[in-house]
Amino acid sequence: MRVYDIIRKKRDNKELSKEEIDFFIDGYSKGNIPDYQASAFLMAVFLNKMNIKETTYLTNAMMNSGEVIDLSKIDGIKVDKHSTGGVGDKTTIALAPIVASLGVPVAKMSGRGLGHTGGTLDKLESIPGFNIEMDSKKFIDSVNEYKIAVCGQTGEIALADKKLYALRDVTATVEDISLISSSIMCKKLASGANSILLDVKTGDGAFMKTLDDSFSLAKSMVDIGNNMGRETIALVTDMSEPLGYSVGNSLEVIEAIETLKGNGPKDFTYLCEILASYMLILAKVVDDFDEGIKNVREVINNKSALNKLKEFIKNQGGDERVVDDYSLFDKASNIVEIKSVKSGYIKSIKAEDIGICAMILGAGREKKEDNLDLSAGIVLNKKVGDYVLEGETLGTMHFNKTEKFEIARDKFINSYEIVDEKVNQNKLIYGIVTKDEIKKY
Ligand code: URA
Repeated sequence: MRVYDIIRKKRDNKELSKEEIDFFIDGYSKGNIPDYQASAFLMAVFLNKMNIKETTYLTNAMMNSGEVIDLSKIDGIKVDKHSTGGVGDKTTIALAPIVASLGVPVAKMSGRGLGHTGGTLDKLESIPGFNIEMDSKKFIDSVNEYKIAVCGQTGEIALADKKLYALRDVTATVEDISLISSSIMCKKLASGANSILLDVKTGDGAFMKTLDDSFSLAKSMVDIGNNMGRETIALVTDMSEPLGYSVGNSLEVIEAIETLKGNGPKDFTYLCEILASYMLILAKVVDDFDEGIKNVREVINNKSALNKLKEFIKNQGGDERVVDDYSLFDKASNIVEIKSVKSGYIKSIKAEDIGICAMILGAGREKKEDNLDLSAGIVLNKKVGDYVLEGETLGTMHFNKTEKFEIARDKFINSYEIVDEKVNQNKLIYGIVTKDEIKKY
């Protein structure tokens, strides 16, 4: 087999076989295929597309290019939840203890934030002492004993994806549904869960900005997962404004804790309830959505989920007293309220810009190597649909680095669109994609 022939075949818009895709991925990850040929291959895929059969073969080949984690020593059906990322998305921190307290084993490998989006590991590390590094024995023992553990992704999984993603980044071939879905799913599948729940974000702060693209991505990932023998479903959910009110690492952890105390923001609480209910269905703990929601509300009301969070924090070396005493988190030295410059209804809040503001204040990374200020961020006071008076607080900025405060403040104010006419709140759930159907709400 020659890589030249594989490139030519895709260039001529023909379907590639499993053997050809395996040959390409194996050759590229071992360094036998040079970047210039891999670039030509990627551009041919980008222009002529891959069908779902080819996309599944590509995912499988990339999954097998690194370690495939074996979670079989953990009892029960392991369900993983994956969000395509957004602003204020602290879902895992509330959701994982909810489902763990209902007996679902959560063995989660999470990532760090980059650009305007945050990462679960950074958020958890804002808890004093919390350690995201553990060997596989401790990881598996923790899930068996407490039903919950979250660690960093090992560098060994899906090695071909790491290399190809870097090449896509410099060859203008990132934005292709087959390439994105195979890239996300090969890592999810390598992480070993039996079933996968995807939260595909849509809107300004999401990777996918339009509903059509978000549904296409959801459909492709759901098909890949099911083709690979893992039950997979996806929800398409809003990311046109930040999720909840808090953006920034410790601020988001506090909001997740408040949610487990029953005082969370309406949108965030509802999203957690819905996602948790689908995780319970995938884990075969409940038969239907209504039973799932009932169980979820019960463990929030009776504080089992909150106690599970404490257990989880303690087991990973963190100070679980933060749950009852927020003063144990590092606090920013500057906390400044930002006032509205006009009265009216809030029509939109550009999520991406809010994420960038938080990044400018120190809560996010512009480049992978950047250090974070885990206490920095923004707490919104108003969301889409709310009325605001001129001079009323729109949000509060928390920061230690003062140099770029004015830039962040101006960007923050400009991210709000305020109008005279009444505005409805944003829809939270746009639809669900399963193996058999796409339901749009
Ligand atoms: N995230 C990934 O892991 N891969 C992509 O291609 C895009 C987003």
